Amino acid sequence: MSVPLVIAHLSDLHLGAHVPAAVDALADDVASFHPDLVVVTGDNTMRARPHEFMRAVELLEKLPTPRLVVPGNHDLPLISPLRVAAPYHRYRRWIGPDESVVRVEGVTALGIDSMPWWRWKSGRVSHRQAVRVRQVLGSASPSDVRLLAMHHPPFAGGLERIVGRGHFVRATGQAEVDIVLAGHTHVPSVRTYGEMLVNVAGTATSHRVRGVPRSWTVLRVSPDAIEVHERCEGDPGAWYTGPVTRHPRRTHTS
Ligand SMILES: [Fe+2]
Repeated sequence: MSVPLVIAHLSDLHLGAHVPAAVDALADDVASFHPDLVVVTGDNTMRARPHEFMRAVELLEKLPTPRLVVPGNHDLPLISPLRVAAPYHRYRRWIGPDESVVRVEGVTALGIDSMPWWRWKSGRVSHRQAVRVRQVLGSASPSDVRLLAMHHPPFAGGLERIVGRGHFVRATGQAEVDIVLAGHTHVPSVRTYGEMLVNVAGTATSHRVRGVPRSWTVLRVSPDAIEVHERCEGDPGAWYTGPVTRHPRRTHTS
């Protein structure tokens, strides 16, 4: 395990609405940080079309391993019988399970699928997923970073509020989750909620920017702190380090 532990957090790749220069330069930039874990928090494609999944897989496979990937709302067909009949079929076929666990030395990471087919684009955390958070992350070694990955920011308000926020809050509290990684907004932000850090990554490779550059995030986790470095795109395909913030790391009781 490297000290500090390095986690690369990417989101909203949106292959199909991507900027080729950003796609071409991303994997090398991520690799230059020698991450212990790469997390991709959804919207891998623009409209869940097979050729978009194919291009997303091409990019994902260039990223360092191990990788934890979850789906976003754009990874489900939008207007298609498949949305109801088999909403995750293409995602599972091309990318893999929509919920998974990755354990590397010093980290236990759980990815959950926060996009139900029955919501238009906002998310949910179900009772079953909350149980899984308690089981997987609550039983991790006290020395491990307990990391939860999901597409939807868990504390969004208004129409973006997730269904099941109470499940989420209780489960992450009981499991003593250290870090939640999310995306969806295309605007990076890092905040603490009690002792839990929530990092929302921007869009790494799409042209769907919302007033800020394309970006991805490097988290450097040491025993007492988490440093968050924003990697931003200047000229197309040229990445630089933007804002850096430092946050205390929680102590696990069990
Ligand atoms: Fe997105």
